[in-house]
Amino acid sequence: MENFTYQNPTKLIFGKGQLEKLADEIRPYGNRVLVVYGGGSIKQNGIYDDVKRELDRLGADVFELPGVEPNPRISTVRKGVAICKEQQIDFLLAVGGGSTIDCTKAIAVGAKTDVDMWDIVTKKERATGALPFGTVLTLAATGSEMNSGSVITNWEKNEKHGWGTPYTYPAFSILDPAHTFTVPRAQTVYGIVDIMSHVLEHYFHETPNTMVQDRFCESILLTVMETAPKLLDDPENYDHRATIMLSGTLALNNMLNMGYRGDWATHNLEHAVSAVHDIPHGGGLAILFPNWMKHVLDENNAPRFKQLAVRVFGVSTTGKSDQEIAYEGIDKLRVFWNSIGAPATLADYAIDESTVELMGEKTVSASPEYGNFKRLNKQDSIAIFTASLT
Ligand code: NZQ
Ligand code: ZN
Repeated sequence: MENFTYQNPTKLIFGKGQLEKLADEIRPYGNRVLVVYGGGSIKQNGIYDDVKRELDRLGADVFELPGVEPNPRISTVRKGVAICKEQQIDFLLAVGGGSTIDCTKAIAVGAKTDVDMWDIVTKKERATGALPFGTVLTLAATGSEMNSGSVITNWEKNEKHGWGTPYTYPAFSILDPAHTFTVPRAQTVYGIVDIMSHVLEHYFHETPNTMVQDRFCESILLTVMETAPKLLDDPENYDHRATIMLSGTLALNNMLNMGYRGDWATHNLEHAVSAVHDIPHGGGLAILFPNWMKHVLDENNAPRFKQLAVRVFGVSTTGKSDQEIAYEGIDKLRVFWNSIGAPATLADYAIDESTVELMGEKTVSASPEYGNFKRLNKQDSIAIFTASLT
């Protein structure tokens, strides 16, 4: 285990009816509130009305930025920044999933600088501060509700990049599992895949002595796999939604990776696919993760894969080499994801070999090598995309 410092300033407010705390949470930050949300699901399921009621109770001057896209775009960020500057906004409230929260993080930073936000997302310029913001989470997936990361797409350039700053932790996040009852089945599946993928990104590292962290990771994987089929059969089951929601937050609030650095190559690969094809993040991960695993598995790192296969997927070890056990574990992961309805090939999204080269270039647009467990380059990306086609 390496030395580390852990600090996470986000106040997590979890459970049934917790939205009633919203007004009191915003009050210290001021009266002019910009509510940021997506394509309208919150208007259909009543969350918008409940949020408005709380903001009325606060006596807030409410401004709105609707229409944040899944895979949020820099163009929408710029609209939000302009509203903040014109209307002297005090506080931002994201109501939605990871896309809405990520867009809000970028708006919060953009409101405090004259630099174009794309230059900050691409790390050409540095953030100098951010407006305070809170979130009302409506979809369990990204962990954005309790981390400082954000992922923004520039559709004109076909680029999608992750970035983050110490200023982009939410001040608070309200997580009521009942707010996720209306998440459609496919989106619920993508969220489950994303949560498991975050744990897996952490899990693949070579730092010795991470016993506690390994077992935290394994317990989240086992819990999500046990709960997912039950939730998909019973989407309005509060307990199952709560289990998945808490798993999502814990999977990426950086508690699991205390004292080591995870891999993150598969996320880089997926961001390249969705930058070119605008597919759902979790769908892309379900296709790419097993193929990344097969690509990087070798004699030296097989014990790590074996540990996962044995402890999480119950693979028996008798008479098998470490690599055989590892392969069985990888297959079980893919079978599980397919069993809950996640896609298995890029062809499922009508992606063929014609964009493999372009997507390969996108994986190295920020740096020529990526991935910490195993360093990969553009040729590796192309091999993994090619293996993922059908
Ligand atoms: O747009 P609305 O109307 O809100 O509908 C959304 C959207 O269509 C819908 N939805 C959300 N809550 C709902 C609901 N529908 C019905 N009932 C509800 N309660 O779900 C759709 C997808 O929403 P989105 O926010 O895009 O999903 P997700 O939370 O999976 O976020 C994906 C984005 O997050 C990035 C991804 O790359 C992608 O851009 N990520 C962010 C991370 C972070 N900040 O830490 C890490 C992740 O690895 C990920 O890369
Ligand atoms: Zn993810």
